[in-house]
Amino acid sequence: MEASAAAGMHVLAARSCVSSHRGMVIPRTVISASDLKVAKQKLVKSQNAASLQSLCKRYPSSSVKYHRVATRAMAGGSEEVTACVLPINLKGKRAFIAGVADDNGYGWAIAKALAAAGAEILVGTWVPALNIFETSLRRGKFDESRRLPNGSLMKITKVYPLDAVYDTPEDVPEDVRENKRYAGSSNWTVKEVAESVKNDFGTIDILVHSLANGPEVTKPLMETSRRGYLAAISASSYSYVSLLQHFLPIMNPGGASISLTYIASERSIPGYGGGMSSAKAALESDTRVLAFEAGRKGQIRVNTISAGPLGSRAAKAIGFIEKMIDYSYTNAPLQKELLADEVGNTAAFLVSPLASAITGSVVYVDNGLNTMGLATDSPTLAVQ
Ligand SMILES: NC(=O)c1ccc[n+]([C@@H]2O[C@H](COP(=O)([O-])OP(=O)(O)OC[C@H]3O[C@@H](n4cnc5c(N)ncnc54)[C@H](O)[C@@H]3O)[C@@H](O)[C@H]2O)c1
Repeated sequence: MEASAAAGMHVLAARSCVSSHRGMVIPRTVISASDLKVAKQKLVKSQNAASLQSLCKRYPSSSVKYHRVATRAMAGGSEEVTACVLPINLKGKRAFIAGVADDNGYGWAIAKALAAAGAEILVGTWVPALNIFETSLRRGKFDESRRLPNGSLMKITKVYPLDAVYDTPEDVPEDVRENKRYAGSSNWTVKEVAESVKNDFGTIDILVHSLANGPEVTKPLMETSRRGYLAAISASSYSYVSLLQHFLPIMNPGGASISLTYIASERSIPGYGGGMSSAKAALESDTRVLAFEAGRKGQIRVNTISAGPLGSRAAKAIGFIEKMIDYSYTNAPLQKELLADEVGNTAAFLVSPLASAITGSVVYVDNGLNTMGLATDSPTLAVQ
């Protein structure tokens, strides 16, 4: 049983490693049979041998062979599986993903990647978006995008209403409590959601924060009100502190947490306003501090993924996301579309035992755009 599950994971991971419709072609050095023998001996000695469940099955004869490098782990398979595979195995782990309300965003892609690796999925959905999300889910609107590499549909065990701007019921103002978009739901403050998850499932292993909101995001910082600035920080940064604060007591030691950030935290991105750049800077700083505190207190790792532009619902509200996607395609070292699944796969790695020594880090998943200091398509650079 165990063995067949491991074999299943191997196939999943192997597929992940080779399937891409937009893959890049790069040279790969081939492992010789003697190298393999040494590697096997080292593996047996290694304490981590248990996590390396599969060794190379087949080796090409030439010294250098061109391989397609996977950029889309959720797509179909290929026969040309020749590489050693490190499986990401999250079987028996339970994840709570805050910030899923449709099948377009990073939260959904992360949920899928964690589900593909075997984790049980719970999601927290913003109260005003809950009704439409649950209805769409029930009516099968997301069925195609729920499909996992093994052909099954991602199962979301439970959807919790959540508003991460409020920590306890006492924090909720009258007008929100009486708002008809909140009327049909209860127990949606952070503290109450953590309590509900505890009552329903006892513990979790993985906490994902994939949410942000800045009511004045379209305004330059110079024109942002105090209220708008603090609202951005509250919804996009403090919400993470609060989530970790309330979920840490029910997180199993060895667990992990991640959030999503954006390069505007450290470089000026005109148009990403309303204090959202400040909120992302706070989120990154908090990642380092929370990594220390959660590491010492609960043996929990805390990392953040700095993702490139994606045409999600939240990003569309900013107004120029398509231009940002084009800009990235033109100027990033890797000239290809950035897929939400690539962020999902990185998240799966970061919360898995394979990343057991990584904490407090900002991990860039942006086709390398963050490394550029020059816009290669600038008209200034055009040859006269
Ligand atoms: N899309 C991009 O280009 C991009 C780039 C880098 C980082 N990110 C980050 O990725 C994360 C996910 O965003 P996305 O772009 O995938 O969009 P998305 O619309 O899929 O996700 C944002 C989610 O936040 C939820 N939300 C908003 N306010 C909330 C609240 N008070 N309580 C609970 N949930 C709330 C929304 O309902 C939505 O589900 C965000 O942190 C975002 O800043 C996005």
